[in-house]
Amino acid sequence: MTNPRMTFSIGGETEIRRLGFGAMRITGPGVWGVPADHAEAIRVLRRLPELGVDFIDTADSYGPGVSEELIREALHPYCAGLLIATKAGLVRTGPGRWEPQGRPEHLIGQAHGSLRRLGVEQIGLWQLHRIDPAVPRDEQFGAVRHLIDTGVIRHAGLSEVCVADIKAASKHFKVATVQNRFNLGDRGSEDVLDFCTAHGIGFIPWYPLAAGELTRPGSLLDAIARRHDARVGQIALAWLLQRSPVMLPIPGTSKVAHLLDNVAARLIELSDQEFCELDRATEGRRQAL
Ligand SMILES: NC(=O)c1ccc[n+]([C@@H]2O[C@H](COP(=O)([O-])OP(=O)(O)OC[C@H]3O[C@@H](n4cnc5c(N)ncnc54)[C@H](OP(=O)(O)O)[C@@H]3O)[C@@H](O)[C@H]2O)c1
Repeated sequence: MTNPRMTFSIGGETEIRRLGFGAMRITGPGVWGVPADHAEAIRVLRRLPELGVDFIDTADSYGPGVSEELIREALHPYCAGLLIATKAGLVRTGPGRWEPQGRPEHLIGQAHGSLRRLGVEQIGLWQLHRIDPAVPRDEQFGAVRHLIDTGVIRHAGLSEVCVADIKAASKHFKVATVQNRFNLGDRGSEDVLDFCTAHGIGFIPWYPLAAGELTRPGSLLDAIARRHDARVGQIALAWLLQRSPVMLPIPGTSKVAHLLDNVAARLIELSDQEFCELDRATEGRRQAL
C-alpha cells in the first residue's frame, strides 16, 4: 500500500510518489547539447522505475530536445503510472541562454513537438515555463486551455509565478502544479507555497539542492545529518518533503550514485525539533546556505 504522506495526486487525479527526478542535468554543459557521458545518462533514467520514481520533469528547451529524446530512448515503452512532465515557453540561443517565448502558436507547436520527442499520445503534465512579458498573459493561458481542450495535455502547470499569476491563470484552466525556485537556503516563494498548500496545487521546487551547494558539508545541516547517518543533501530534501504535503522535489543529477543518495532521502524523517530548527534558521533566506 502506498503511504499517503509520500504520494500526491496531480490535479486530484494522477497519483505520483514524492520525490521525482529533474531531467535537465542529463544534457550537455549549460543545458546545451548531448551529455558528456551518454551511457551514464541512460543508466540514471533506467534506474528511476526500479527505485520507485514515477515522476520525471523535463522541458523542450533542455538540450534543446535532448532531455526529452533521452527519456524516450531510455524508458520507452513507458511503464504504467509513469508521469513525464514537460514544459515550453523558453527558447535557447546557446549554452546557458534562455529567452521567454509565449506566442500561442509557439507554445502549441512546442507541445506537439514534445509529444513526438517523448513518444506519447498525451502529455500528462505540461507547464508554461515562463509567462512571457511581451505577450498578453491571457493569450498564453488561452493556448494552455487549447492544449487541454484538444487532448494534447492532461494537466497544466506554471513556472516562476506569483500568487496573482496563479489566480489569473485559474480563470482559464485548473492549475495543477507550480514550479518555482525553492530550497532550504532560498525561500523566496514561501507565499506561493502556502497558497499551493491551501489549494491542493502541487508545488515543484526547482533547484532543491541549490545545484549541489546543499550537498556540501559545512553548514548547519551537518549535525542533523550525523544524527541520521545521512548526507547533508538528503537532509535538505527531507526538510522539503516535510515542509508541505504538496511539495514535489525533483533533484536532478547525471550520476547514478547521486540519484541513489537523493532517492534515499524519502526514508528520512526529521523530528519536529530538527524540522523547526532548520525552518527557523533559514526563514526569510533567499540564497544558498
Ligand atoms: N522551472 C524552471 O525554470 C527550472 C529551472 C531549473 C531547473 N528546473 C528543473 O528542476 C530540476 C532540478 O533543478 P536543478 O538541476 O537546477 O538543481 P538541483 O537539483 O538543486 O541540483 C542539481 C545539481 O546538483 C548536483 N547533485 C545532485 N544530486 C547530488 C548529490 N546527491 N550529491 C552531489 N551533487 C548532487 C548535480 O550534479 P551531478 O550531475 O554531478 O550529480 C547537479 O549539478 C531540473 O532538473 C529541472 O527539471 C526547472
